[in-house]
Amino acid sequence: MSLILGIESSCDETAAAVVRDGQDVLSSSVASQIARHAVHGGVVPELAAREHLVALNPVVESALREAGVTMAQIDAVAVTQGPGLIPALLVGLSFAKGLAMGNGKPLIGINHFIAHIYGAFLDGAHEALEDPASYPLLALVVSGGHTSLMLIEADGRARQLGCTIDDAAGEALDKGAKLLGLGYPGGPVVQRTAEGGDSSRFEFPRPLTGAAGKPLAPENLYNFSFSGIKTALLYHVRNHAGADGKLPPELLKDTVASYQEAVIDVLARKTMLAAKNFHVKTIVAAGGVACNSLLRERLTQLTPPGVRLRLAERKYCTDNAAMVGGLGWHYFRRGEFTSLDADSYARLPAITQVPFLGE
Ligand code: KG4
Ligand code: ZN
Repeated sequence: MSLILGIESSCDETAAAVVRDGQDVLSSSVASQIARHAVHGGVVPELAAREHLVALNPVVESALREAGVTMAQIDAVAVTQGPGLIPALLVGLSFAKGLAMGNGKPLIGINHFIAHIYGAFLDGAHEALEDPASYPLLALVVSGGHTSLMLIEADGRARQLGCTIDDAAGEALDKGAKLLGLGYPGGPVVQRTAEGGDSSRFEFPRPLTGAAGKPLAPENLYNFSFSGIKTALLYHVRNHAGADGKLPPELLKDTVASYQEAVIDVLARKTMLAAKNFHVKTIVAAGGVACNSLLRERLTQLTPPGVRLRLAERKYCTDNAAMVGGLGWHYFRRGEFTSLDADSYARLPAITQVPFLGE
């Protein structure tokens, strides 16, 4: 039995978790900084770093307490190394290095993007990960920083089929909400505002889907683009604005519902196209936007019979450290550790193999 302490600080959540053997989440503490950033309408990296510094100690202590363990019982410290906001990552990484060194534990640097996929396989969901019948597996990773379709084989070979060529899906929701003056973060508020709205009232574009009679270049078959939807929203607001330059309140619900529909429709359609063309056995949805009820509903409706759908539990969709501690165990069991002079990284490196499969 091995216990990994996970630490996450890549964006605006400070999180720590204790995970047993890559699957049993004994504790998962998340301190959100949303209120601190909301006044600025988005995440301020420097502010995030300062907040992490304050929150890390109490969050780690609470994760250990809740799991009923001490640092002495922890086998390794896994920490998000990248991709993410460098100032924010640096604080978590430095903290984890100190904790590991001071307690004589190995350090494990974790890729946040892969950790999001792993978030769909925690707790009771773990068995599916080891079942060869689950593969090939298609992972839709949708967050504030990523929109990507990854194809994963049973031996862990992986490749990105497509990704966003401009904004991420979460970013499109966040920016759309900001434009409408709905606040930050946009995803949850868009979902709430859209409830009961008529999503067919306004037609927003479906970029890179071959809709609107535009031929789709083969290299864009599984790519996404959301900046056009956002621009269409800007023009929509201008066209319908009242004397105060704002969207009349009676149009708000239907506008938001139509905007959300456009983003989710593209995500679901591209996922299904890739699932069909690559004969996948499992579809996974992970990352903050995978919390979205319309996306969850749409994927559930469209997943063909014979294909399994694994929606990460909502608490493991948005940033958390359980996914970090869980993934860390796979490195631990192989004795693959990270040097104490390792740096954080901002961008997603090319992924050809996932660390949680194969030897
Ligand atoms: O995974 P995450 O917590 O952080 C990143 O790695 O980016 O994802 C945050 C993103 C934000 O863009 C947020 O608006 C979006 O996830 N999000 C949602 C919902 N909850 C969070 N988007 C749509 N519907 C939601 N319910
Ligand atoms: Zn994330």
